[in-house]
This record gives sequence, C-alpha cells and structure tokens, in this order.
Amino acid sequence: MQAKWWHGKVAYQIYPKSFCDSNGDGVGDIRGIISKLDYLQDLGIEIVWLSPCFKSPFVDQGYDIADYQDIDPIFGTMEDFDELLAEAKKRGISILLDLVINHCSSEHEWFKKACADLNSEEAKYFYFRKGKDDGTPPDNLRSYFGGSVWEKIPGHEDENIYYLHYFAKAQPDLNWYYEPLREKLFNMVNFWLDKGVAGFRIDAIMNIAKDLSFPGLPADAADGMCSANQMTAKLSDQAAAFLYEMNDKTFKPHDALSVAEAFGVNQESLKNYIGDDGFFSTIFDFSARELNEKYPAYYRYRPVDIAKWRDTIFASQERVNDIGFMCPIIENHDEPRGVSYYLPRHAQNPDGAKAFAAVNILLRGMPFIYQGQEIGMTNTKFNSIYEFDDLNAKDNYKAALKAGFTPSQALDILNIESRDNARTPMLWSAGKNAGFSDAAITWLKVHQDYKTLNVAAQKDDPNSVLSFYKKLIALRKDPKYHELLTYGKFKPLEAVADYVVPFARELDGKMIYVIANFEDTAVSYGVNADSKIILSSKEVDLKDGVLTIPAVACAVVEL
Ligand code: NOJ
Repeated sequence: MQAKWWHGKVAYQIYPKSFCDSNGDGVGDIRGIISKLDYLQDLGIEIVWLSPCFKSPFVDQGYDIADYQDIDPIFGTMEDFDELLAEAKKRGISILLDLVINHCSSEHEWFKKACADLNSEEAKYFYFRKGKDDGTPPDNLRSYFGGSVWEKIPGHEDENIYYLHYFAKAQPDLNWYYEPLREKLFNMVNFWLDKGVAGFRIDAIMNIAKDLSFPGLPADAADGMCSANQMTAKLSDQAAAFLYEMNDKTFKPHDALSVAEAFGVNQESLKNYIGDDGFFSTIFDFSARELNEKYPAYYRYRPVDIAKWRDTIFASQERVNDIGFMCPIIENHDEPRGVSYYLPRHAQNPDGAKAFAAVNILLRGMPFIYQGQEIGMTNTKFNSIYEFDDLNAKDNYKAALKAGFTPSQALDILNIESRDNARTPMLWSAGKNAGFSDAAITWLKVHQDYKTLNVAAQKDDPNSVLSFYKKLIALRKDPKYHELLTYGKFKPLEAVADYVVPFARELDGKMIYVIANFEDTAVSYGVNADSKIILSSKEVDLKDGVLTIPAVACAVVEL
C-alpha cells in the first residue's frame, strides 16, 4: 500500500450548528470552532470534517447549498473561515469540507434561473422532464425522504413538467451528464483546495448516475414506488466514470483526502474506490447502518444489537484488509447516538462508551469521532414533536401516525432513531446551555444530562470517557504501535459470548488483541504467558496466559 499523508491519523466530525456559538445567537459558528481548536489538538485530532457551512436556506441543515463558494452568514464570513484554516494548521489539524454535489438548493441561482427559463443554459444543469400523459410523474422512484423524486416546477404547477430531487424537494439533483456543469463543479472543488482545504467528505455521491430514460423500477412497497437507492445501485459503473474524472481534475493534483459517503459498494468494485489508484482515498464503513436501512424509515427504531454490529463490521474489515482503508464510525449527524442504539441497556453508560471507543479507534482504517462521542453522549430526550427540527424526523413522525402508531408511540420511535439525537448542542460545561451558547434559546434543545455529562466534568478526571479516548488516540500515535495500528491487518477473534467484540491487529509478527466486553459478566481469553496489558478501561486480570475482562470493559493486550 502506498503511504499517504493522512494514514494513521484520527479524524473528528464537527456539526457546525451545534459545536460552539461565539456570538450568542443560539447557533454554532466558525469563531466558536476556532475557540475549540486547542481542545481538539489536546484530544489528538489531526483531521476535522466540517458538515456544510456554505450559504443555505437550511431545509436539510446545509445539505441544500445555495452558494458553493460562500460561507453562510449564520456561521460567519470567508475571513473567519480563512482564519480557521490558518489556526488549524498551526495546531497540525487539516480541514475537510463537505462536498454536496449530487444536488444543490432550490435557492441556488442556477435553479432559479433554470425554473425561470427552461431553455436557459442553467436548465441543462438539472433534470426537467414531462410527466406522463395522465399527469403523473415521469417514473415511480421514491425519494430518500419519502414521496416521489419528481416535483412540479414552483409557480408552474398547472404544467406537466417536473424536476428531479432524490432528497427533499428543496434539493434539486444536478445533471452530471452535462459536461459544462461538471467543469463548474470541479472548478469549485479546486477553489477550496487552492485555499488550503485538505480535502472533502463527499455526500451521497453514488446518486449522480441516472438512467436518462427514467424507466422507474418495480415497486418495493405498497405505495407502488421503488427507492431511488435501487436505481443508484444499478448505475454504479456510470458514477465511477464521473468519479475518475473528478479525481483526475481535482483531488489527485492536490494530493487531497477524499472520504466518500458511498453505500453498498460490492467486493469487485472496492479497489476502484479505495485501492491505490482508486478515485477516493477512503469511504465510510456504513455496513452496520445498512442493516437497518428499511422503508418506511421509522422502522429503524428497532435498534441493531452489538452482536450483529460486530459480525457486520468484522466482515467489512476483512473485505478491505488487502485493498485499502474504510473509516470506522460509531455515529454521525445522520444517526442516533451509538451508545444508545447498539449497546445492551446495561452498557449504555460511560463504561460502555469506553469499550465502544476502543473498538472504534483501534479497528483498521481512519476512525472518525463524531462531536460529543468522546464524552459518551447518549440520545437526547425529546418530549414533543415540536422539539425536533429535522425534516426527516417530521416526515417519519407523520408516516408513523399514518401507519397507525399513536402520537406517543411515534414520539418514542423518533427518540430512538431520529437524526436529531446526534445534532443537539455539544456539551462543554454545566453552565448555561451546557456552555454551548449564551442565547436565551438554542436552535435545538440541550441534552437532558448536561449538568453531569460535559467536557469540563471529564477533562481532568483520569477515569472519564474523554480521558480514555485521549489514551486510545495517544496509543495510535505511540511510535511503538503506530505502524501496527495503521497498517496492521485485522483479524477477528473468537466471540466467546454474544456481547463481546474481540479482534487482533497484526503486522510483521507483532500482534495486539483488542477485546471489548459488553456482557454483564466477565469473559476470559487465552493469550501468551508473557503478554502485556497496554491499556484497559477497568482493572483486568492476566494470569498464566489467561486474560479476564470484567463486565462492560475493554482491554488492549500485546502478545
Ligand atoms: C447525506 C447527509 O449526511 C445527510 O445529512 C443529508 O440529508 C443527505 N446526504 C442529503 O444531502
């Protein structure tokens, strides 16, 4: 494997609206992020991904971009952003932006001009198609947020012409088959890379391929529709051709890091994505999330248990061992908190968060920590539908009611599966709004446990979740283990019980075991007589080559 500048680093995702509010308007901003760079450096973070901070009407929280080359005033100015880049650099931190180029916002100049004149140049940037003769949409694909992927042009509802949107109506899909548009997008990518951005996390990218005859697909549910997802899966070769082109014209010449949100990549194609000559540097491992990608989306309220999580993640790790890296995650801004979602009830606490951390940080690949994960944040308790912001949560609520759930059941479902669970403000202290903001009201409610669950309470406590994350990241950087933990192969170990996640990393005859025990009893593993415990979250016992790990704890052992 060719060594790359980002290999061996640990990354951190910031959700800008909820990280730190410097100007007291209840919404996080860039100056807030700058004020927390020392915190990130101290944690050991070397790469930061910012969820979108571009100009946006925020229908889908910035994943609907109205101007790709400007910062939204809610977050600050371009000068603030330049300062963030410079300050991050001083601390050895590289910044990744979010590249959302399957779609833009319906407020983007391009879309406005396109709708005003369907013969304009800008109209070629989108997919406008005539509806069927009976006035129904061109095909039966279902958008990711529910309902048809087709919508009539605003202001022209009596005409039989639709535009395509795989996500919300306010997110019209961009036409990648029109070369001048691709050039515009690539120029925009280069604008940011020339500025000093280290790369991008790339949003929903496999959706750029379309079957231009828009044939639809056999229905996959009672609504007569079929998920757009299934069309995307059929067209991945077409997407790949565009992605090689983008890599050649943007990422490659800048030696940029590209981390893609690419679902369902099959084994044969993996090396085209993340191999040495792949079009991305790496992709997230979403295999656990895919287990529960059900329609309607509210069915995700049935959490996946840790045994299933383990088997799925282990299979992913083995798939890429000889090809490249995937990025292990526990959660992100589209997921409930992992501690609440995957761990058995008795482990949904700091002990469980630490054991989960060991797995996340020590698996093979570049781990991403989502803000708040490092202090063991759990799901937020929402008491009413009015406390949610996410359009998807609101849609799921309506869908659940329509399916016959009571309002209180529908609320319970959202409390388990909603994306807003992870989007609530970062918990910095026990002060007002958890130290996130001075505002009277924050844009999304503050987590119920902030008085005790916060950075200030953990930072000087050697036994806190935060301190444990620091130790794990430091272990990855320790020259003695750095190569092994970066390039060492992944090997599953025998899962001696349902709720145990045990694996080894091995390089040139050097081997460590990582064993996370989420059972409510101790488990034992045979190791070598002279094995050495490198790190553990509780006191563990190693006698005569037998390692015993207490309930809800983890250990890292060198053999
Ligand atoms: C994936 C993003 O992570 C999610 O938040 C967004 O809603 C969709 N893509 C659409 O951009």
